[in-house]
Amino acid sequence: MPARTTVLVTGGAGFIGSHTCVELLDHGYDVVVVDDYSNSVPGALERVAKIAARPPVAVHEIDLLDRRALSRVFDEHRVDAVIHFAARKAVGESVELPVEYYDTNVGGTTALLHAMRDHGVHRLVFSSSCSIYGDATKVPLTEADPARPTNPYAASKWLCEQVLADICRHLAGFSVLALRYFNPVGAHPSGLLGEVPRKAVPNNVMPYLARVAAGRLPRLSVFGGDYPTADGTGVRDYIHVMDVAEGHRLALEHLDDEVGMRVFNLGTGRGTSVLELLAAFQRACGRPIPYEVTDRRPGDVPALVADPGAVARAWNWSTARDLDVMCRDAWRFQELNPSGYPN
Ligand code: UFG
Repeated sequence: MPARTTVLVTGGAGFIGSHTCVELLDHGYDVVVVDDYSNSVPGALERVAKIAARPPVAVHEIDLLDRRALSRVFDEHRVDAVIHFAARKAVGESVELPVEYYDTNVGGTTALLHAMRDHGVHRLVFSSSCSIYGDATKVPLTEADPARPTNPYAASKWLCEQVLADICRHLAGFSVLALRYFNPVGAHPSGLLGEVPRKAVPNNVMPYLARVAAGRLPRLSVFGGDYPTADGTGVRDYIHVMDVAEGHRLALEHLDDEVGMRVFNLGTGRGTSVLELLAAFQRACGRPIPYEVTDRRPGDVPALVADPGAVARAWNWSTARDLDVMCRDAWRFQELNPSGYPN
């Protein structure tokens, strides 16, 4: 794709969206953001503009389900491609609010496809998740391994993938790349951009560790010490959010390699246990982090690790940032922004 093309980023103020906006702006793309700020704040986009030394060309505060407003965004901008992040993403919450999860995640995607089709925009990078593999029986996972979603969040992402694949089958010219991320963590190396969980007690392990290290929470609960893993704690494939952002920029550049739908894992291929992550975070922050091993968290699986081979072969690319860099950057963001972004 030539530089100076316009990319519409839904959910552009969110954790992965904001880092991807920086990556796109840094590489000469014009960026139009759509976000309803349901799990983000405008302050993130101010930081994006500061890091990239130029802002997105426009920011539209709309809900994707507001089809008229979405259509006006496409009327206003000549959009070349779309990156679709906007979604609900908490596994636990999805079990409580399945209707809302399908509505936002699947309904938001079909509303977007409607607007894209009506405006002749046929190029899409879709934010999918390794959670679709569910209770995986093997490590590492390739894209050919079966989807077995175990909660409405994962099921909604899998459903979106199937909708997108079918649309690509029936509507000529559509190119879709779905990226199944493993566990994105870390922050921009400037310390200006990072993950700001909405809740005072984060769900995810990395922001939780950061808050324990900062003394804002007393200790980490390690959910389960009896998994069939080397040290008994859950194993995940943590990937630096800057590598995830780079992956999206490359996905845009490779959208036209083939028409139709393609799916890639975005992970490092390295599994890390909760205790290994804790040790790495202690190295990064230089202080001990209190923890206790507690019961397993309902719905958790023992291990999820990517086979990143397909994307490596297709794009001649692999992730560059290791676990120590992930922890260092997450800690820097925590230290510089103890209360998140100013609002
Ligand atoms: N964990 C703890 N203590 C905590 C939080 C987590 O021990 O306080 C453990 C979990 O049991 C798991 C590992 O840390 O073994 C990672 O847990 P996270 O909650 O950070 O991440 P998950 O793997 O559960 O899920 C995350 C996102 C999902 C997404 C999935 C894969 O929350 O939205 O990655 O993309 F689908």
